[in-house]
Amino acid sequence: MIRTRLTELLGIRHPVVQAAMGYVSGPRLAAATSNAGGLGQIASATMSLAELAAAIAETAGRTSAPFGVNLRADAPDAAERVKLIIAGRVPVASFAQAPRPELIAALKEAGVVTIASAGARRHAEKAVAWGIDAVIATGSEGGGHVGAVPTSLLIPQVAAAVDVPVIAAGGFCDGRGLVAALAWGAAGIAMGTRFLLTSDSPVPDAVKHLYLAAALDGTVVTAQVDGVPHRVLRTIMVDRIIGDGGAGGGGTGGEVTDTPVLLRAAMVEGRTDLGLMPAGQVAG
Ligand SMILES: Cc1cc2nc3c(=O)[nH]c(=O)nc-3n(C[C@H](O)[C@H](O)[C@H](O)COP(=O)(O)O)c2cc1C
Repeated sequence: MIRTRLTELLGIRHPVVQAAMGYVSGPRLAAATSNAGGLGQIASATMSLAELAAAIAETAGRTSAPFGVNLRADAPDAAERVKLIIAGRVPVASFAQAPRPELIAALKEAGVVTIASAGARRHAEKAVAWGIDAVIATGSEGGGHVGAVPTSLLIPQVAAAVDVPVIAAGGFCDGRGLVAALAWGAAGIAMGTRFLLTSDSPVPDAVKHLYLAAALDGTVVTAQVDGVPHRVLRTIMVDRIIGDGGAGGGGTGGEVTDTPVLLRAAMVEGRTDLGLMPAGQVAG
């Protein structure tokens, strides 16, 4: 058993968090992770309020262990989502992108543990000043929305800068990575891509096979998808979106704004040809 400030804070058996993934981390994956001793999380950004309420109830029915809900603080109905989390007695709430102080305060007052996401030290420091209980620091290797600093450099820097438990993310898939993260000063790890590829993940097999076929250079970061840097599997469709400029958000392709529709096409419908597949370099 590895006990850290994170296992103590969350009341979990292993310092492993399942990262939030839209259309991927619903009740089935979240509950399976929590039952196995990690922290499972429901990704709520792609859910309606009613779907979130149902997902919370279903997850609570599948596990008696702690689990979390991940939400966007900039969602127009963020305050209502926080109310659902509190009413559902969800033990943990994590923020995708920047949190908001009043949401942190409401959650903490109700006894919910709060976690922020940070891709840079200053984001972590800001969230801690607002009273956040823990920080997930995600390096540029990670899948989905990412910053510019690699995990190996970001984690030691953030861990030295803040006094709350730091959860390292971006590029983890095994126990060696967990040991490295602990050595860098983190109190645990979060993994997305690795959990997408488990048997408890609802993602269609055709999509899982594409991830498994990717090499270390099989992903690309582009801002052409939704305006912010996003690491995705490099498919023919992605190449078309980013145009001739290639990696790093360059290129001449038009910006596609309907990310949830493209995400759903891959993760729910298994459309590897037209779906968008966020992926960490660790897929390789
Ligand atoms: C398929 C997929 C979907 C994701 N969707 C979300 C999301 O909806 N919200 C979010 O905050 N992060 C999302 N992420 C990012 C993850 O939460 C996490 O930061 C990332 O997977 C960590 O890097 P790793 O893939 O190397 O483990 C997604 C990642 C993947 C792979």
